[in-house]
Amino acid sequence: MADQDRLVASDSESAAEASIEKSLRPQKLAEYIGQEPVKAQLAVAIQAAQKRQEALDHVLLYGPPGLGKTTLALVIANELGVNIRTTSGPAIEKPGDLVAMLNELQPGDVLFIDEIHRLPKIVEEMLYSAMEDFYVDIVVGQGPTAHPVHFPLPPFTLVGATTRAGMLAAPLRDRFGIRVHMAYYPAAELTEIVLRTADIFHLTLPKESAYEIARRSRGTPRIANRLLRRVRDYAEVAEVAPVSVAIVDKALAALAVDDQGLDAIDRKLLMMMIRDYDGGPVGLATIAANIGEETATIEEMYEPYLLQIGYLKRTPRGRMVTPAGFAHLDMPYSH
Ligand SMILES: Nc1ncnc2c1ncn2[C@@H]1O[C@H](COP(=O)(O)OP(=O)(O)OP(=O)(O)O)[C@@H](O)[C@H]1O
Ligand SMILES: [Mg+2]
Repeated sequence: MADQDRLVASDSESAAEASIEKSLRPQKLAEYIGQEPVKAQLAVAIQAAQKRQEALDHVLLYGPPGLGKTTLALVIANELGVNIRTTSGPAIEKPGDLVAMLNELQPGDVLFIDEIHRLPKIVEEMLYSAMEDFYVDIVVGQGPTAHPVHFPLPPFTLVGATTRAGMLAAPLRDRFGIRVHMAYYPAAELTEIVLRTADIFHLTLPKESAYEIARRSRGTPRIANRLLRRVRDYAEVAEVAPVSVAIVDKALAALAVDDQGLDAIDRKLLMMMIRDYDGGPVGLATIAANIGEETATIEEMYEPYLLQIGYLKRTPRGRMVTPAGFAHLDMPYSH
């Protein structure tokens, strides 16, 4: 995959990147930048749970990739002063896997299930009683000796994260007492995140330069941190300091990140829709086939931001490029 393709990619692609991300994770709510309503809601819930000496209500975090869901799960456990066990929907293949994880929890602990929309149905159904009444019923043994066992659990907090809240079954969704929608970050908050990361990197970065990176990071901390790292590399190689806005601009141009933070794939997507379909409407599957990406990738990673900035809109007959989208690509609006 080309470098610029990876800027938007969901997960940390390499062990090196994963460890960098880890080192950048805030540990406490106070260090977690932005998402003020979310933090306020969680702070109250955490304090109340601590006062009552109960497990915190189950928390569902949903929103586009890279906005800080995993980070927030870790922060919640930290604030509660409890252990956190981390797994993901696809990793829990059978009920036994879930029971094994639940069995290791201490009272009040956090179980974090990432990509919770990808839990196998049979596991999901087992979670219902675990979440609601802290027990699971399992079948032990096989054939004629098989018998049900009622398995009590310590009170715990399930933190679930998903990029696709719509794909969650209602009975599961309803069992989360706290549901948190993570929104894209405004440039001012991302600027703070970039400055914080620069500080961790011991990089002197003027605020205007941080803002320029922030503005072009699609509202996403993960992308902001990635762009900052590329900018830092660029500045080091070019041996320029301080890192001026002009340097940021050059570094981002080299990554094909444009003035609005769109990358090569965003532009390819819009251009294909304009050239081949007069701007749409075009179905998601057709878009995916035409630009050689998976539908899920487009739906989760590219489309949400293009919708957010108003370059794309959804209609019952498919996606359409808006006049603003045409204008961004310097194409005459035809419709
Ligand atoms: N509010 C924030 N303040 C500071 N840094 C943040 C914040 N949110 C996210 N980050 C940084 O952005 C990176 C990505 O965050 P994280 O992995 O938590 O995203 P995510 O929502 O779990 O993504 P995915 O959906 O792909 O799992 C991390 O390195 C994290 O430190
Ligand atoms: Mg995550």
